[in-house]
Amino acid sequence: MHMAPIVLQQPTALPQELPPRRSLHVAIISDGNGRWATSRGLPRSAGHRAGAQTARRIIAAAPGLGIHTLTLFALSSANWKRPPAEVAGILRLLHEYLLTETSNCMAEGVRLSIIGRRDRMPSTLRDAVADAEAATANGTRLHLRLAIDYSAREAIFHAACRFYKVTKLSSDTFGDVLSEVLRGGSTDVDLLIRTGGEQRLSDFLLWECAFAEFVFLTKRWPDFTAADLESAVQEYGHRERTRGALPDAIAG
Ligand code: FPP
Repeated sequence: MHMAPIVLQQPTALPQELPPRRSLHVAIISDGNGRWATSRGLPRSAGHRAGAQTARRIIAAAPGLGIHTLTLFALSSANWKRPPAEVAGILRLLHEYLLTETSNCMAEGVRLSIIGRRDRMPSTLRDAVADAEAATANGTRLHLRLAIDYSAREAIFHAACRFYKVTKLSSDTFGDVLSEVLRGGSTDVDLLIRTGGEQRLSDFLLWECAFAEFVFLTKRWPDFTAADLESAVQEYGHRERTRGALPDAIAG
């Protein structure tokens, strides 16, 4: 019997972008810049500069891995205890990042927000933050949140101070107040990655990490690659997330 050949229909046009495999909020504690530099006989500032380059590569890779929100810990409020020259250097680097990357973020559909205190920033950085946030406000491909002068405990404390004015008291409405305090929103973290070998949260997203999965890596932040990010996302995909319920297999 003669079989008619199967004719595969050609798609008329390739989709612009593959649909996201998942829709994740990934938060990263980008630790290890200083050790990366000193182990090479370089000043710590060279480590932060290399760290900023890593951030660029990771931000570019994130949407393709199904990440819709990426929060990077760029400067902790606790970092004010470091030598003033180092903190000033990091703030300068962040300013430089905003100036060079805003147009790229606009082109790539990245919405940029800063979470953390703004009152202790140099006023030029504060203005650059406001400009970058306004210019990228319509980005829908990735929400990039940079935590600068950020302390989760302080943010929760400020939200609690405001909460007494709220009439409908619930965990959700507290989250809304926290979101206002942070300005850059407050959404649950799915996956928290920390580079640099330490295994602690260091006052980062304490409220939002309630049900997060943690991946700790010994690699220092400047050595972290898009492939490492992909592996962490894959590892996350293998974890069973029940949020306190029973796993499906047992619950029946
Ligand atoms: C941690 O390394 C990094 C920081 C305290 C801040 C600098 C972060 C970046 C430059 C990455 C994000 C940058 C941009 C532009 C988004 P560490 O100094 O604590 O390292 P150590 O533990 O080895 O001393």
